[in-house]
Amino acid sequence: MTSLPTDTGTGSAPPPGCPAHQPTREATASGLPVLYGAEFAADPHATYDRLRADGVAHRVELAPGVEAVLVTGYDAALEVLRSPYFSKDARRWTALAEGKVPADNQVVPMMGWRPSLWFADGERHLRLRASVDDALGRVNPHQLRTYVQRSAAQLIDRFAGDGEADLVAQYADPIPALVFAQLFGCPDGLTARMASACSRMMDAEPAVAHAGGGELAMFLGELIGVKRQKPGADLTTWLLNHPSALTDEEMIHQLVVLIGAGTVPQTAWISTGTMMLLADERFASDLTGGSLTVADALNEVLWLHSPLSNFSFVYAVHDHTLRDQRTGAETHIPAGVPVLISHAAANTDPTLDVDSGQRAANTSHLAFGAGPHACPARDTAGVIAEVAIEMLLDRLPDMALAVNATELAWRPGPFHRALTALPVTFAPARTSSTEPSDASVGESWNPADAPSSTRPAPISTPRPPGSAPKAPRRWWSFLVRSRPGR
Ligand code: HEM
Repeated sequence: MTSLPTDTGTGSAPPPGCPAHQPTREATASGLPVLYGAEFAADPHATYDRLRADGVAHRVELAPGVEAVLVTGYDAALEVLRSPYFSKDARRWTALAEGKVPADNQVVPMMGWRPSLWFADGERHLRLRASVDDALGRVNPHQLRTYVQRSAAQLIDRFAGDGEADLVAQYADPIPALVFAQLFGCPDGLTARMASACSRMMDAEPAVAHAGGGELAMFLGELIGVKRQKPGADLTTWLLNHPSALTDEEMIHQLVVLIGAGTVPQTAWISTGTMMLLADERFASDLTGGSLTVADALNEVLWLHSPLSNFSFVYAVHDHTLRDQRTGAETHIPAGVPVLISHAAANTDPTLDVDSGQRAANTSHLAFGAGPHACPARDTAGVIAEVAIEMLLDRLPDMALAVNATELAWRPGPFHRALTALPVTFAPARTSSTEPSDASVGESWNPADAPSSTRPAPISTPRPPGSAPKAPRRWWSFLVRSRPGR
């Protein structure tokens, strides 16, 4: 694990000489800095630091031979995200259209155009976005909490007795899909299929991901048919009945974007947040003292480890010049080249006047984007992450990292900042045994009808929203501090 970017720096000083003309350590034949490979994954902030010295935007490689412009300055990122001179329409990507980037390149599934709100501009985006905003706005936060609690309890029960777990594979990875299945109103028999298709769609192996995507689209088609016959109080029904009058194809793409946009960053946010709580003394001690909540810690993650690290692809409508307001340095952005916002670099821009003491309560980071395509699910995502972590802390209060935090590895690749695994140990615990307080949740997923292996376990300890339990945390905090090597 790297040191926290804005507290202790990246651990690697810029090389001597003019940084603008120094390739990063993992430079290619083109000489461009790269956003992939083990070295970048291990310490992306070393790359961001070098790039910053050269201005607010820079040519980079996203994958071998795939060129883009990366915006690292906070003000410049806001300018691009809010500007009408940049489009989301990926059909403007010249190198892809001309076959210079092969269609099976690893970044194409993420960046290639699809008929969803994500790639839409103007009126079309407004229409599609309205349906998503309105549907998400109808989600009852209390019911959402119950969905997360049920899913969390079910997953924790599977490993609580083992005394050890990998919280990425066994918890943070599967929990968003389980919550989405309930939000979408999946009938009982379809929940497991949806969770499995989601997980396959996110597989690192392109063939598996492609098959998973096809499976998910087929499944969502079935779900739409079911909801037309039997509407419910769920996202699928609200989207179907929205005045935007979505076609079936648009419906499927809206649902795929909700899942795709939601699951991967959600997984990263939950696992990085848990890691920070376990590994970073500032949180362990502050939580013990009661001055910081789990939500505060999660907000700090958004500043320091933005789950979507380099994202928000856009294309200049015409050739564009981006100007660094402070230095006057200009970066030429040709039309047809993907422009990515480095949410990670922008949030840690040294010119920002946000000191570490203010971060937890300050939500002006760009982790959820900005402008017309800013994340519509900020509140929903916050509830999911917060409740998921609270459940872990409640059920496994003596949980500790099984390895030194510096040994944790991060997923390679340009787009996400996500741990590959989060091994923890804890005293083996019993499975939960009391009933959840909200009995109304069973409408779409009746635990009694589910096979016993997938039956959600009831919830044990209700606590006020956002609060971290104080007494058990002392023991947990002690474990964190006493571990050698931290
Ligand atoms: C419940 C979970 C989530 C859902 C359903 C969700 C959904 C979405 C959707 C539909 C969009 C596209 C909006 C548009 O194009 O108008 C979006 C954008 C975005 N989301 Fe989320 N999201 C979730 C969680 C997160 C999390 C945890 C993060 C990171 C902390 C995040 C960061 C972003 C960002 C940066 C964008 C802007 C992308 C762009 O401009 O290309 N989202 N999200």
